[in-house]
Amino acid sequence: MPAPSLDTIANLAKKRGFVFQSSEIYGGLRSAYDYGPLGVELLRNVKEQWWKAMVRERGDIVGLDSAVLQARQVWVASGHEAEFTDPLVECTNCNNRFRVDKLEDASLCPNCGQRDTFTEPRQFNLLFTTHMGPVEDEGAKVYLRPETAQGIFINYENVRRTSRLKLPFGIAQIGKAFRNEITPGQFVFRTREFEQMEMEYFCHPSESADWYEYWQKARLAWYVDLGLPAESVRLREHEQDELSHYSTGTSDVEFQFPWGWDELEGIANRTDFDLKQHTEHSGTDLRYYDQEADERFFPHVIEPAAGATRTTFAFLIAAYDEEEVRGETRTVLRLDKRLAPIKVAVLPLSKKDELIPDTEAVAVALRSRWAVEVDVTQAIGRRYRRQDEIGTPYCVTIDFDTLEDRAVTIRDRDTMAQDRVAIDQVPGYLAERLP
Ligand code: GAP
Repeated sequence: MPAPSLDTIANLAKKRGFVFQSSEIYGGLRSAYDYGPLGVELLRNVKEQWWKAMVRERGDIVGLDSAVLQARQVWVASGHEAEFTDPLVECTNCNNRFRVDKLEDASLCPNCGQRDTFTEPRQFNLLFTTHMGPVEDEGAKVYLRPETAQGIFINYENVRRTSRLKLPFGIAQIGKAFRNEITPGQFVFRTREFEQMEMEYFCHPSESADWYEYWQKARLAWYVDLGLPAESVRLREHEQDELSHYSTGTSDVEFQFPWGWDELEGIANRTDFDLKQHTEHSGTDLRYYDQEADERFFPHVIEPAAGATRTTFAFLIAAYDEEEVRGETRTVLRLDKRLAPIKVAVLPLSKKDELIPDTEAVAVALRSRWAVEVDVTQAIGRRYRRQDEIGTPYCVTIDFDTLEDRAVTIRDRDTMAQDRVAIDQVPGYLAERLP
């Protein structure tokens, strides 16, 4: 089927409890979103898969969870206070503001359609400011972190020393980041509060080109392995004039969103920029000492930096499918089983009392291993449709024959094929098919 529209995904996300507008009952807060019961499971599964691939399955990468609030000097040293800006223009006719580098036509207002009504571009800093303590003066000013990366750099020496890792090694972190984006939009694609999954890989400067290559391939493969179609993801090398102030090379992993190719993740060669900056600004020597070579140097850093919320959105879009089944349209989320928010639905054929004890017993037997939902109301066909729409790989149905033959029907989301399985074999049957 053709790619779903943004509205189709946003409507499904809201209708089924994946994503809600923040502060909806107060009219909604633009560009912030809340993840509902299914959204939070999906987001957690995406983050879990990233953590597994980037930390648990490797011996050379460890994790970190640093504070959102950090010393203001961190952001001076990193360059964010001075340079983390986007060019902003305002339309003098309708007073709407835009990021000039994202406008399709730099002289045409996309809101009111007037031409040549923009002010001169000015650099707008994206840092969110707040104050520590009771006095709101310049000295108490702190920022909400705009990326998780700096928390890693300022802990580089703590982690190296305590984990006794030798180069090359990485430090990974998942967490919230905040940016006062000029033009948030496209649902959860660009928001002012979002979650990142970042890893800083420290290596000898002579090896940085190889590791840059390595991480581009590894990261692209991760998305495909988890279900983004190979033809919908690509690597795009940044042009020289696109590079951030800290980078000598960056490749984006891009996904074909409903509006076209756009960024999921940036893989950057940050050289020794950050460790040098923090050494200079903090006075702490962050050079690495290689005992064998008797060499002291600043490691170079390769950084795969992904958005957890944006990536979750891409998995949702890629999973969406519609097909004709007996003259009706079936909507199905073909999420990879590792990502599916609910792994098994347990459904009594009717809500008659005699089916409930077996329904509950089956659910209890499965809950310790998988996310299980019990759904009792509505006709069974409608309940199957709902489970298809939220991507549940298996539905276990308890019917009146179960009372006699002690067996249940297990339906596969993708093929809709049904197997009759003895109740005591259900955990084993599912264990062969589910992560
Ligand atoms: N430490 C480098 C860094 O933060 P970035 O390209 O600015 O690099 C990394 O951000 C990833 O974070 C992006 O590829 C995107 O997936 C996600 N991201 C950035 N800004 C975002 C926003 N406003 N809303 C949602 N995700 C965002």
